[in-house]
Parts: sequence; C-alpha cells; structure tokens
Amino acid sequence: MSQPDGVDSRTAGGAQRLDPEVAHNARVWNYWLGGKDNFASDRAVGDHIRTVFPVIGDVARADRRFLARVVRFLAAERGVRQFLDIGTGLPTADNTHQLAQRIAPESRVVYVDNDPMVLVHARALLTSSAEGATDYLDADVHRPEQILAAAARTLDLDRPVAVMLLGILNFVADTDQATEIVRRLMDALPAGSFLALTHPTVELGGEANVAAMAFWNEHAAPPIRARTGAEIAGFFAGLDWVEPGLVSCARWRPVEGDDTSVPQYGGVARKP
Ligand SMILES: C[S@@+](CC[C@H](N)C(=O)[O-])C[C@H]1O[C@@H](n2cnc3c(N)ncnc32)[C@H](O)[C@@H]1O
Repeated sequence: MSQPDGVDSRTAGGAQRLDPEVAHNARVWNYWLGGKDNFASDRAVGDHIRTVFPVIGDVARADRRFLARVVRFLAAERGVRQFLDIGTGLPTADNTHQLAQRIAPESRVVYVDNDPMVLVHARALLTSSAEGATDYLDADVHRPEQILAAAARTLDLDRPVAVMLLGILNFVADTDQATEIVRRLMDALPAGSFLALTHPTVELGGEANVAAMAFWNEHAAPPIRARTGAEIAGFFAGLDWVEPGLVSCARWRPVEGDDTSVPQYGGVARKP
C-alpha cells in the first residue's frame, strides 16, 4: 500500500492490506473508545463482544487513561524523554507525544503499529513540538530488531527509553516468543529505561473474556489471547517494579475517575 503524503514511515515488516470486510483490532478498539475511524464490520463485531463482555468499553478507556498517567509519571517524575510506543492504535485526543511534550517539549517519540488504517492516520501522530521529534514505523512487534534499528533514527538508544507495549502482546500467541520480544527490546536499552505494559486477562473478574475472545478469533483479526497475572508478570523479569506493581490498569496510581477495576493488567518497571 502506498504511503500517505508527508508521513515519514518506514516499513520494517508491517504493510498488511486494509480489508474493510474483516473486523480489525485497531479499528474495533477505536470504536469501543467512541472514535469514528471504523467500518460496519468493526462495529458489528464490537457490538457483539459488548453483549458477551459488557465491560469492554471500560477496559479500553481504562487502558488509555493508564497510558496517560504512565507517560505523565515517567516524563514528570522520572525524567524520561524518549518513548517507543509499540501497538500505538489509531490517534486519539491524548497520544503519547502530546502527553510527554506537554511536560517536556524536547521529548522524542517513535510510534509502531502494523495496521494499515493506523498508517493512513499516522500524520496525526507526527505533530511534534519544534524541540522534540516523532516518527511512525509500519512494523510488526514480532521483529524487535527491525523496530530498534528504525527507531534509532529518531531515538538515542544509548539513553533511557520507555518501551510502551499496551494491549499488544495479547496478539503474540506464544508466551515464550512474547517474553523473548520484551527481552530483546529491553536488552538493547540502557539502565534507567522503562517497560510499561497492559494485557487482558480472565482474572480480575474477566471470566467473560473467554467467550469474547473465542468470538473474536472466529470473526476478527489478528487472533487474541488472555494471560494470567503470573504470565504477564514474567514479561517484567529482571526489571524493578514501580509501585504498585502489576494491578488492574485502572488501579495503577489512579486519579479521580480511575477507581473501577477492569480485567486488564497494567504495570511499569525500570531496568536496573
Ligand atoms: C488494543 S490496541 C491498543 C492501542 C493502544 N496501545 C492503547 O493502549 O490504546 C492494539 C494495537 O496493536 C496493534 N497490533 C496488533 N498486532 C500487532 C503486531 N503484530 N505488530 C504491530 N502492531 C500490532 C493493533 O493494530 C492495534 O493498533
């Protein structure tokens, strides 16, 4: 697919074809968040999932609020100035670079997604402050070395980077492979880097996720899976937890309005 004008994206393994007939994750997620960048197929699957798993809208909103709190925390309280946001999703009101650059205009952000619709809308992710920088990579999370090589054109990988993996490792079916992806990303970065991650679960009151994900895997793409808290905690091996550790993402350093627990784990940890 051709690249929209003005979008400095680099293909490193993404480049799927846009298929409006098959519900796709980035667009359905956008629908649950109340966005308009979705097709009838996305809305039909999204509505059905809402009937079997009524909290899905709360999950999506809690996940975005987690993103905002984490970026603000890392920028304001930990001095992080570089972010690698893998599995970005379609642009919303508060994207990572806007959140970070509001606190530190010199922040540099690289977005990564492999959804063609996200690529089409990537221009909205490239509205950097003059002092900072943003880039968008059309790339697959299964290829961390390619992501790191392309990200290095914008980020200084000898300085701390916050790796954001929000709602994306659930699309890597094999837990060993997902663990290896995280390890390779974090191994390439210096001490003082951070990992922020969210992941769906059937724990935390998420039993209905079993039926919701079974339906998703029959009718939509890409295939998804849940994991236990113990499996998700394994992704953080070798890192030091930021308090409160791995919790419902709504309960991670909540501010007013974040008090309802959702069946989506979230955590942040620092590379020692
Ligand atoms: C559930 S959305 C989460 C979006 C955003 N991170 C958030 O938390 O709101 C997951 C995103 O991961 C992307 N994604 C799924 N599989 C991917 C893969 N193999 N490589 C890159 N991106 C992927 C989807 O296109 C989608 O935009």
